[in-house]
Amino acid sequence: MAVKGRYGRGPSRKSSQSTLVIAMLIMLSFLILILLALGILSIPSTSRNAPKANDLSSMVHTTVERSDEDEERGDHWVELISWEPRAVIYHNFLSKEECEYLINLGKPHMKKSTVVDSETGKSRDSRVRTSSGTFLARGRDKIIRDIEKRIADFTFLPVEHGEGLQLLHYEVGQKYEPHYDYFLDEFNTKNGGQRIATVLMYLSDVEEGGETVFPAAKGNFSSVPWWNELSECGKGGLSVKPKMGDALLFWSMKPDATLDPSSLHGGCPVIRGNKWSSTKWIRVNEYNI
Ligand SMILES: *[C@@H]1O[C@H](CO)[C@@H](O)[C@H](O)[C@H]1NC(C)=O
Repeated sequence: MAVKGRYGRGPSRKSSQSTLVIAMLIMLSFLILILLALGILSIPSTSRNAPKANDLSSMVHTTVERSDEDEERGDHWVELISWEPRAVIYHNFLSKEECEYLINLGKPHMKKSTVVDSETGKSRDSRVRTSSGTFLARGRDKIIRDIEKRIADFTFLPVEHGEGLQLLHYEVGQKYEPHYDYFLDEFNTKNGGQRIATVLMYLSDVEEGGETVFPAAKGNFSSVPWWNELSECGKGGLSVKPKMGDALLFWSMKPDATLDPSSLHGGCPVIRGNKWSSTKWIRVNEYNI
């Protein structure tokens, strides 16, 4: 019995020591896991340095010089300008010839612009919108069909969801006060449903003023590289300067299909020059013409 006891005691002391070490290691691992879970400890990760959604100064504004040899359409490139609202500029979307074609097509038919009355759904005169304009029917000719196809490729929204192109002319002092492109009434959404996105094409340069301004955009809009070139009105929000051939795409609805109030936008008064633009409103459903 005594012999058995002596042999039995020796190894059991050793094994209880290693059990203790293992138990401590396990406890330490749990402690690390708990600290990781609580976020007190962290594994270094590059995503911690990712820019915040509305940090407009972190957006890359690439400058591309337009060479005189490439007069056809210039360089095409897309510039993200904001996440709230979702807005991008497609540079040199239209050629100079296409811009001139649209202007000449609409020029003889320009009428004082109206706004849609949200109660009756009818158009009416308005002091908030002092431009003149006209509609160009969807698919009316080859050049317009080409442009409408390009808009569909750019937005991923079918040609059939688009309203006819609207041509607008703003002279010195003319403007469009900030508004939403989406409707708040039943009448205007019967055909095609809500407006989901807008493509605004600039058909002319404007010497001064005439910016498209988003006064409700999120972020520090004075961090845009062209801040010093903006008019007082343009400095009232995130602004895009009109440039012949450029197209501005912005979304009136968020990815979850709710209306986006940050899409509030206006046309600043033209100070010097003339502003010609063309607008394509795109619906959530097919729009019958
Ligand atoms: C906004 O951006 C401008 C230009 O980058 C900077 O000078 C200014 O301090 C910023 N303002 C705020 C409130 O961060």
